Amino acid sequence: MSENLEVIILAAGQGSRMKSSLPKVLHPVAGRPMLAHVVSAAQSLGAKAIHVVVGHGAEQVKEAMGATDINWVLQEEQLGTGHAVLQAMPSVCDGSTVLVLYGDVPLITTRTLTSLALKAKAAPALLTSAVKEPFGLGRIIRDERGKLLEVVEEKDATNEQRCICEVNTGVLAAPAVDLKTYLPRVGNSNKQGEYYLPDILGLAVKEGKNIESFAAMSELEVQGVNDRLQLNQVEREFQRRQAEELMRQGVSVADINRLDIRGSLRCGKDVTFDVNVVIEGSVELGNGVSVGPNCVLIDTRVEDGAQIHAFSHLQESIIGKNCSVGPYARLRPGSLMDEGAKVGNFVEMKKANVGKGSKINHLSYIGDCEMGAGVNVGAGTIVCNYDGVNKSKTVLGDGVFVGSNSTLVAPLTIEQGAFVGAGSAVTRTVEENELAVSRARQKNIQGWQRPTKKTGE
Ligand code: UD1
Ligand code: CA
Repeated sequence: MSENLEVIILAAGQGSRMKSSLPKVLHPVAGRPMLAHVVSAAQSLGAKAIHVVVGHGAEQVKEAMGATDINWVLQEEQLGTGHAVLQAMPSVCDGSTVLVLYGDVPLITTRTLTSLALKAKAAPALLTSAVKEPFGLGRIIRDERGKLLEVVEEKDATNEQRCICEVNTGVLAAPAVDLKTYLPRVGNSNKQGEYYLPDILGLAVKEGKNIESFAAMSELEVQGVNDRLQLNQVEREFQRRQAEELMRQGVSVADINRLDIRGSLRCGKDVTFDVNVVIEGSVELGNGVSVGPNCVLIDTRVEDGAQIHAFSHLQESIIGKNCSVGPYARLRPGSLMDEGAKVGNFVEMKKANVGKGSKINHLSYIGDCEMGAGVNVGAGTIVCNYDGVNKSKTVLGDGVFVGSNSTLVAPLTIEQGAFVGAGSAVTRTVEENELAVSRARQKNIQGWQRPTKKTGE
């Protein structure tokens, strides 16, 4: 089927109900423009060509979609869905089956589309939906034997027709030759003065064609997005689908409504998510990884057995086996933790390698730093990597111990086994096994008088 399939995606409308300066089809669902979801569905069907009809914000839409293999068709004036499809027809081969999709209907599944396209070999086929609230949608008109006759838009319908709850989803498939035959014959003498795509169905029926129809799996699958409420319904449905799929794969999710994946996630066995976790970009979690509540993971890999505790924010980082992160840790791009390392609460890291079993347990900033194995960094340690102009590097050898509240001024090397006394500002190399202390010596003053409370005045 696929070698004969072409897809036309309508995306020229303004989307005024979004009340946004962003073209509607670029509003994101799970972090990707709605239109990108529809293009992906078309690609996974193996369509030989994907035509996208753009109008409002055309340049912005093209730019946002990047280098995707799309034939862009400009519809200068939005004269209706029939007119929109007609603009793409010169690029479509006569022998193709054409599937018409919408840039603002992003949850459509390839399963439904495959079934629909198979029904459109000799005549158009329509995807319908049975809804409780048909207001605003095109109604499916059938004869007494159930044969589909035509689609009537809300504004053109009689009161009797408005009671019909079987509606047009907009999605249809048709032989290209049928579109080429019937679309030019569609007129605009209706209440909206538009060229309606579904009018081809009535024309085909009059020529004796039989229109097959097919019901969508659920109302949400064909939910169009016209405002931000519908955008949210679609987002929640998409996230729910992803969480369900994860659970089927053996991942534990504390609350199906409180895990948001905006990108791709790969999980090993026995991964668990507590509530309110956000995943962005490409994230990979090994076997037995647990992610605590309120964590954000962006383009990060976490290896087997590691634990990410509550309120941690990790970006472009690699967490080794059995590491422990957080609660309240911030790992900025380039944070690499070796097996069994530990980064505790209120620690910020950036471009830092933390060696095997090393620990930074509390309240530190570690930037541009290379750390060996078995290092212990005391509470309140700051690596001063920036002199206001340049960034420099700090190297800590294996087994180094940095006492609490120290400042390590880069560029700096502290060789293996060396020790830094608490409260030191270290600016020069500390050699192997040396002790560096750079704070004022303690003085104890005997007979010192405590201040006393002043009286009077
Ligand atoms: C359309 C259908 C209706 C169906 C409903 C489902 C028509 C005439 N009616 O109505 O039967 O129940 O969808 O949601 O087809 N577009 C263009 N260029 C245009 C006009 C529209 O690209 O000139 C795009 C819009 O951006 C939008 C989509 O086509 O994404 C649907 O157009 P819209 O005008 O919203 O049609 P509806 O009134 O929703
Ligand atoms: Ca619409």
